[in-house]
Amino acid sequence: MAWTELKDLESATEKCRRYYDAQYSKSSSYWGEQPNLLVPLISSYLRPDSRILVVGCGEGRDAIFLARLDFEVVATEISSFGLKRAKEIVSEENGSLVLLMLDAHEPHDHLGQFDAVLMMNVIQHLSPDLIPDRIGHFKSLVKPGGIFSAQLFTVEDPHFLSAANSAGGFSRRLTIEHPERKYRIRFFEKGELRSYFNGWEMIHYHEGLIWDKPHGVQSDFHQHGMARMIARRRLGI
Ligand SMILES: C[S@@+](CC[C@H](N)C(=O)[O-])C[C@H]1O[C@@H](n2cnc3c(N)ncnc32)[C@H](O)[C@@H]1O
Repeated sequence: MAWTELKDLESATEKCRRYYDAQYSKSSSYWGEQPNLLVPLISSYLRPDSRILVVGCGEGRDAIFLARLDFEVVATEISSFGLKRAKEIVSEENGSLVLLMLDAHEPHDHLGQFDAVLMMNVIQHLSPDLIPDRIGHFKSLVKPGGIFSAQLFTVEDPHFLSAANSAGGFSRRLTIEHPERKYRIRFFEKGELRSYFNGWEMIHYHEGLIWDKPHGVQSDFHQHGMARMIARRRLGI
């Protein structure tokens, strides 16, 4: 990778880390304590001795939920404040939760293979040019028969549509800088997430507008364009 590309990647990831560090250092939880709606469903497909990787775990709501169900969970983040909050919540508990400071652009294969890999609301923050490579990397960490789940923003999202409108109509650029938070977001086109998982069994796939509860600086219920997927790696691929 050329030096300029590496510098851009670092500064874009740094902007994201800075935003979330500031949010996660506040006294109340940014995302709330309930797991992502897909996570209880994912847990119902896993054997009790399953190992799970949660990438970009935020303050740990999904990882903590799964560790409390006695799964062996490894959760990664770039925000030390997110990891600190998760550590505080589980400090008195006996479950198996390993929290690691690790950038999703870095190799994760030293962590071994997993029965499930979760990337909830994190792929959109990765370097757009590297997204295919990173999805390929995390897919390779799923054991045959195991699960990959992701949730991410799509071009139906009101933020994307207003950015496209202010650019004078439909924008072919799928990556925008958040107007206030200054971090980069890559929106996915219709069917794009699914296209990375040809040959996998789709247990759940939904794209459309969803209502999100108030969180962080957003004090009202609001809508997002989302793709949500639970896919199973078939035996033999
Ligand atoms: C929208 S939040 C979602 C947090 C969590 N997955 C959840 O749903 O509660 C995105 C998270 O991804 C993390 N993140 C962004 N870029 C990352 C990267 N390159 N590697 C690991 N985590 C990253 C951010 O720090 C932030 O906590």
